[in-house]
Amino acid sequence: MAAYEFIDHRYDVVVVGAGGSGLRAALGCAQAGLKTACVTKVFPTRSHTVAAQGGISASLGNMGQDDWRWHMYDTVKGADWLGDQDAIEYLARNAPAAVYELEHWGVPFSRTEEGKIYQRAFGGMTRNFGEGPIQRTCAAADRTGHAILHTLYGQSVRHAVEFFTEYFALDLMMDEGVCRGVTAWKLDDGTLHRFSAQMVILATGGYGRVYFSCTSAHTCTGDGNAMVLRAGLPLQDMEFVQFHPTGIYGAGVLITEGVRGEGGYLTNSEGERFMERYAPSAKDLASRDVVSRSMTIEIREGRGVGPNKDHIYLHLDHLDPKIIHERLPGISESARIFAGVDVTKEPIPVLPTVHYNMGGIPTNYHGEVLTKVGGDPDSVIPGLMAVGEAACVSIHGANRLGSNSLTDLVVFGRAAGLRAAEVVKPGDKIPEAKPAWTERHLARFDRFRHANGGSPTAQLRLEMQKAMQEDAAVFRTGETLESGVRRIAEVHSKVRDIRVTDRGLIWNTDLMETLEFDNLVGQAAVTVTSALNRQESRGAHAREDFKDRDDVNWMKHTLAWFDDATGKVRLDDRPVHAYTLTNDIAYIPPKARVY
Ligand code: FUM
Repeated sequence: MAAYEFIDHRYDVVVVGAGGSGLRAALGCAQAGLKTACVTKVFPTRSHTVAAQGGISASLGNMGQDDWRWHMYDTVKGADWLGDQDAIEYLARNAPAAVYELEHWGVPFSRTEEGKIYQRAFGGMTRNFGEGPIQRTCAAADRTGHAILHTLYGQSVRHAVEFFTEYFALDLMMDEGVCRGVTAWKLDDGTLHRFSAQMVILATGGYGRVYFSCTSAHTCTGDGNAMVLRAGLPLQDMEFVQFHPTGIYGAGVLITEGVRGEGGYLTNSEGERFMERYAPSAKDLASRDVVSRSMTIEIREGRGVGPNKDHIYLHLDHLDPKIIHERLPGISESARIFAGVDVTKEPIPVLPTVHYNMGGIPTNYHGEVLTKVGGDPDSVIPGLMAVGEAACVSIHGANRLGSNSLTDLVVFGRAAGLRAAEVVKPGDKIPEAKPAWTERHLARFDRFRHANGGSPTAQLRLEMQKAMQEDAAVFRTGETLESGVRRIAEVHSKVRDIRVTDRGLIWNTDLMETLEFDNLVGQAAVTVTSALNRQESRGAHAREDFKDRDDVNWMKHTLAWFDDATGKVRLDDRPVHAYTLTNDIAYIPPKARVY
């Protein structure tokens, strides 16, 4: 192995990732007087939060009466009862304050006539425990994530968070079950870095790029999730992958659910508003799992549109062009560029597209990473936290409601900052990094850097993405999932034969994509194996061979460990927190699915 030297850094807290949750967590830590670094592989304002469109949910009640309890109920139900209700209560209760905080920091929200924050309707958001749709999603036109990300970055700079930009995080430094920091590769000069810290907060986002077609950026490779797997820790509920109903056909680019919130609707080849059949009351604003399945059935039964009858139309051509211009300018541009469509005149061709990972690193609602040790399913890993899409708190359970993601980022980013301020003492001694903590990091890095096999990374990545797209889709069966497990195992076995052509260390995108691919393939393995294991249908996990939700046997979180040496996945489970934080809302019992 080539000799590598590390450049050392010491911080009270190191946040990995600079999307909405990473910045909010870093900001909270810095405000609490902790010396805080933020290590990020892209410039902060290019993080994937920038692509969030429709809005951030909070029961502000600006468009009519609302109540955090209604928001909580919708989230528990939308999660198909797999969400942890203590965490969901925390989310719903704290959402309004989190939105006002963003407003005061400068997020340019759209406004009502009276000057209040404008809120639009989103799927699954209802008034009075499911009575009818409510406008709860706070919007900055259809560029809400963009507005929030830029504001949080500005505030982080103001509060002296130190940024390490275009540093690619490699692995966690683990010392007998305690996280001591993280290593990273600086992409523009090739140096390697050791960030020792009292607390590492992973905010590395989702792993949408494990699929062929997704709304996620190319950077969404779940690097933190993979570091957790390599540290011998489990990921949770990875079988639950959300398909957004309206990705642009052929391009996968997101068209916000806000379109349907503003009155847009879907039609099939017969011009029928088919959602009226599948969800007579919520219609086009049923939750995403329901709409994605309904669209897939329409296509399968021959009622898709286009020459191959393989997609669906989304109409907003009946809406007032002034409203479209004011509230949906971003998607109008995307539809023009990626589908050649003028949305004021023609429908947009759309197809369900992978959008979000409900699963991730198990945490409690403070952001502390959990594992199962002996009989304790909530054992905290000292020195390690996770937030945002990388984490599985779990508030989204089996299916996330649209616009609950941005809320998740800022509510739990803030919670992690508060917890870090409790457990980390500013300036406390940090142990000297030991070579033993980083041996496997360097061995992996060097192995890929000099990989000289016969399989180019791009070829293996495509094989993985095709397998996931075909075998772990909107609908799954034991047969497709077994095929997925086999195909992913085959791809994983070929990692030994991978080929990297660039041996350099400076801007070596070949090596970076290889490290990212290696991160993805472990997550693919735990996703398909967890999906094969769960013999029921719940939320985004629709098994055609087990069509019903089975609360008796499957009301539990899946835990999955991955052994990279053998490619084997080990499974276990944790109980769902079916209790609330306070007595302000009674336990919400499971009910039949009614939309
Ligand atoms: O449709 C959207 O605007 C996406 C929002 C979300 O995923 O929360």
